[in-house]
Amino acid sequence: MTWTPDSWRSKPIQQQPDYPDLPLLSEVEKELASLPPLVFAGEARRLRKQLEAVAKGEAFLLQGGDCAESFAEFHVDTIRDTFKLLLQMAVILTYGASMPVVKVGRVAGQFAKPRSENFEVQDGVSLPSYRGDNVNGMAFDAKSRTPDPKRLVRAYNQSAQTLNLLRAFAQGGMANLEQVHRWNLEFIDDSMQSERYEGLARDIDSALAFIRAVGLTPETNRELRETDFYTSHEALLPGFEQAFIRVDSISGDYYATSAHMLWIGDRTRQIDGAHVELLKGVKNPIGLKCGPSLEPEELIRLIAALDPYNDPGRLTLITRHGAKDVERYLPPLIEVVEKEGLDVVWSCDPMHGNTIVSSNGYKTRPFDLVISEIRSFFAIHRSMGSHPGGVHIELTGQNVTECTGGAAQIAEENLGDRYHTHCDPRLNAGQSIELAFLLADELKAMSVG
Ligand code: PEP
Ligand code: CO
Repeated sequence: MTWTPDSWRSKPIQQQPDYPDLPLLSEVEKELASLPPLVFAGEARRLRKQLEAVAKGEAFLLQGGDCAESFAEFHVDTIRDTFKLLLQMAVILTYGASMPVVKVGRVAGQFAKPRSENFEVQDGVSLPSYRGDNVNGMAFDAKSRTPDPKRLVRAYNQSAQTLNLLRAFAQGGMANLEQVHRWNLEFIDDSMQSERYEGLARDIDSALAFIRAVGLTPETNRELRETDFYTSHEALLPGFEQAFIRVDSISGDYYATSAHMLWIGDRTRQIDGAHVELLKGVKNPIGLKCGPSLEPEELIRLIAALDPYNDPGRLTLITRHGAKDVERYLPPLIEVVEKEGLDVVWSCDPMHGNTIVSSNGYKTRPFDLVISEIRSFFAIHRSMGSHPGGVHIELTGQNVTECTGGAAQIAEENLGDRYHTHCDPRLNAGQSIELAFLLADELKAMSVG
């Protein structure tokens, strides 16, 4: 069977909205197919090249952002703050571990959400579940919850505006290493993280003064003045993705142009399913979420389908087993991948296996469990001789209270203070910085040990 951008349509498909107006959906998909790409093939190739270095253990992948972007929270300050936070985390890792960091946002297209239930029941009323702002609205009323294809166009427009900002931030001066102090977000309430970061920023100042003295300056060196920042999202809606699969005029290959990197979720990775079919044929770097139900043999079949030439940088396995199950499920996956000699990037998502409901009814994630899964991820890879290549984190630069714990000791009773997420709970800026320092320590220990 030959692959085409629409060959996924003949495959079984999971997690799709039930659109009442299918002709309108087709019309919208046609419109989307006529709109400009969000990213360019050359950029996706560049990311793939950088991920190849990650696969070889020569760089580290930092992927992060909202669980779900929303129309209501779309604001320049929100995007700027998350961008700054990722820069801070990246500089902590680069400086602490002397390793290049590949920065990929869960941003500019991360709208659609897989759900465990198709319907939500409140007070005896049953309505379609909220599936992300590009599908339906979060408010619990029939009108909001009816999937509306026009939301896809709005999501595209918001993604284009977001990308425009990200490109400006990455290349217009904000990412200049001489601005390292300015990336610190004012509200990082926990002064310990702030102080630790300031200490590191002062060290970077001295290093910059030294290299300036030997003649390397931000004015003359792009690497000091700008950064590469990539976008990614879960390719949950193949109809939307198909509209942005375009033939690259340079290579003649198909590329997804809705983001640099796309991933397949843990609930839609059926080997004969639509989502796997969709991403088989595009040349972008892609991710695959690997949860507890993924058997080692199934993983090998998925890798054969998605990365048949074993190209390092093509496939990132994002493992998300949960702190208490990682020891049980991760080693068998590493074992088969190593045995087959497959060159993947191993990344740890310490969020999705560690979601609990607090005693006062909030979906939350204890920071200790997040840290614990990351530590196990590093320890397991170290003991098995594979590379712990990266992390995949749900975070925000906003001062939210969605995950418990961390140095600021967010307690269950504080969760209601600033709980703003449109889906899963995110680490706030203080917790993210704390995590970055811990990662830097783990990476340093690796290069020593
Ligand atoms: C997510 O990344 O938001 C998500 C739904 O993850 P997973 O597919 O791993 O459950
Ligand atoms: Co999530």
